[in-house]
Amino acid sequence: MGGKITVFGAGNVGGAVTRRLIERKLCQKVVLVDKTPGKSEGVALDILEASPIDLLEPVCLSGDDLEQTRGSDIVVITAGATRKEGMTRDDLLKINAGIVSECVSKSARFSPYAFYIIVSNPLNVMCQVAMRAGQLPKTRVTGMAGILDSCRFQYFISKELGVSVENVQAMVLGEHGEDMIPIPRYSTVAGVPLPELMSRETIDTLVSHTRDGGAEIIRLMQTSAFYAPASAVIQMVAAVVMDKKKILPCAAYLSGEYGINGAFVGVPVKLGSNGVEEIIQIELTEPERAALSVSAEKVKKQMEILGQAC
Ligand code: 2OP
Repeated sequence: MGGKITVFGAGNVGGAVTRRLIERKLCQKVVLVDKTPGKSEGVALDILEASPIDLLEPVCLSGDDLEQTRGSDIVVITAGATRKEGMTRDDLLKINAGIVSECVSKSARFSPYAFYIIVSNPLNVMCQVAMRAGQLPKTRVTGMAGILDSCRFQYFISKELGVSVENVQAMVLGEHGEDMIPIPRYSTVAGVPLPELMSRETIDTLVSHTRDGGAEIIRLMQTSAFYAPASAVIQMVAAVVMDKKKILPCAAYLSGEYGINGAFVGVPVKLGSNGVEEIIQIELTEPERAALSVSAEKVKKQMEILGQAC
């Protein structure tokens, strides 16, 4: 059970995360914070008013009083602008860097030992901004991205083959963006590697669909996804509060792993009570390693644009 968890941002993702945290009983208290007056209170009240039916313990505090967040064990950062149709996640760089930096620097004053899960986009560089703003050790900051992209890939594979999603494992590494790196040979259906079950053309089609997954949702509902991102955050929180030592694709700060130094890249990590406990180094082809390096260089370039050289 994870003590106190603070969620910054009472938008769709923050609200969904808050609801799921309470529903899954992953902590004793959730504090939902948003800078817009009344917003976090309204979202929290809407969630808690369902508690007589959903039998949820009313454990949610809200508001913009950061004193309520003091001593949080986990802090989830969902605050920031979301992209509109036709935008890339990178278009949010400058506006969200300021928001994430403010949230984390303030939060770290009240919760200096918390584990930070970043959701705001552009994800990989927002992790870098958060680590710097909170002066966080690399074990205590990670980004939710690869799990979401992998889930989309898994779902598309299950639909294509007409099999249960429970049979499908998929891996997507690198950046949470157009240059993400789905790894078909490390994706399996009932243990069978995907390339043994699908043609190259079909795999490429599903890979393209995965890359476009976030944008497709925006085209359909004119706002960013939030159920699947929230579920991905919950999987990360559960791994930490239950000390699962679960290997999951997350954005993590690399210090030489995969030949990369000083940038957040989506890689397999072991999540447990000590946060990012290990970076799992798997065999990658040269093109895959090169693609990871491209992701890292992009983060460094974005940090330069922000005037925060890595
Ligand atoms: C997505 O891919 C919001 O970046 C998130 O849906």
